[in-house]
Amino acid sequence: MDELFFDIQHLTHSYADGTIALKDLSLSIKKGKKIALLGNNGAGKSTLFQHLNGILQPNSGEIYFNGRQMTYGRKALLQLREQVGIVFQDPDSQLFSGTVKHDISFGPMNLGWSKEKVIKQVEWAMKETEVTPLQQKPIHFLSLGQKKRVAIAGVLAMNPDVFILDEPSAGLDAYYSKQIMVLLNTIHKPHKTIILSTHDVHFAYEWADEIIVMSDGKILFHGDPISVFKQPNLLAQAHLEKPWVFETAEQLQLMGMLATDTPFPRNKEQLYSHLKQGINI
Ligand SMILES: Nc1ncnc2c1ncn2[C@@H]1O[C@H](COP(=O)(O)OP(=O)(O)OP(=O)(O)O)[C@@H](O)[C@H]1O
Ligand SMILES: [Mg+2]
Repeated sequence: MDELFFDIQHLTHSYADGTIALKDLSLSIKKGKKIALLGNNGAGKSTLFQHLNGILQPNSGEIYFNGRQMTYGRKALLQLREQVGIVFQDPDSQLFSGTVKHDISFGPMNLGWSKEKVIKQVEWAMKETEVTPLQQKPIHFLSLGQKKRVAIAGVLAMNPDVFILDEPSAGLDAYYSKQIMVLLNTIHKPHKTIILSTHDVHFAYEWADEIIVMSDGKILFHGDPISVFKQPNLLAQAHLEKPWVFETAEQLQLMGMLATDTPFPRNKEQLYSHLKQGINI
């Protein structure tokens, strides 16, 4: 049986103004998976993420992390946040002061690591997110995309077991989006789970082991990246388009140009390779 990081049971969350953002939501998150959370604006994705590292607390229902029910005392939260790192959707909620390097160092310095380890991790995280040239710059002078990368670096440097990213590529140009995605594949390890929300179905389809679809505070789907895109009603409800690679493969199968017994291509390289094989036949 797969080991679970999170087991969420009947989670409901209402905000102070009465908005019910999560409605009796149950979900299991396994260790070692790459998971993409998709859903329309206001579906509850950010609200769910904030429950996973204890920023928000359930109105009702339970969340178990590593088999133990989450509690919200100071010590328990510190322990949880060493293991579960979150990059917020809005970098201004994450970054607080000083220079880029100071900000990225803050989390690792509070983990009780040696000075050498903190420096090594911070240098590595800055290099991976390409913010090294910005390290002495005050946060408030940064562009949105630069802030986003600094926020990612700050959590990356702490090397959490569960790495949660709320729309990591929002605000990033195509080059940096791609770099972040390459980075997420590089850091993924058998016991490290990466969960991200995105509106980029193409990326989710190619990258994720599992896709979760939310709408109106509920989980509509949790499963493999191919079967989700075979459900038109679900896609309409969650405002999702089919990824172009998926749609092209589907059309080619209908036209008899792609064998139905070959695995569905998940990226353009696989699609082109299938096509070449088809032409040779
Ligand atoms: N602090 C708050 N007070 C009241 N309502 C809130 C608050 N934060 C979020 N909401 C509401 O909760 C619902 C879920 O919001 P949430 O931010 O979790 O959605 P989301 O799926 O992350 O959307 P997006 O794709 O736009 O980021 C929305 O209806 C939103 O208006
Ligand atoms: Mg959100």
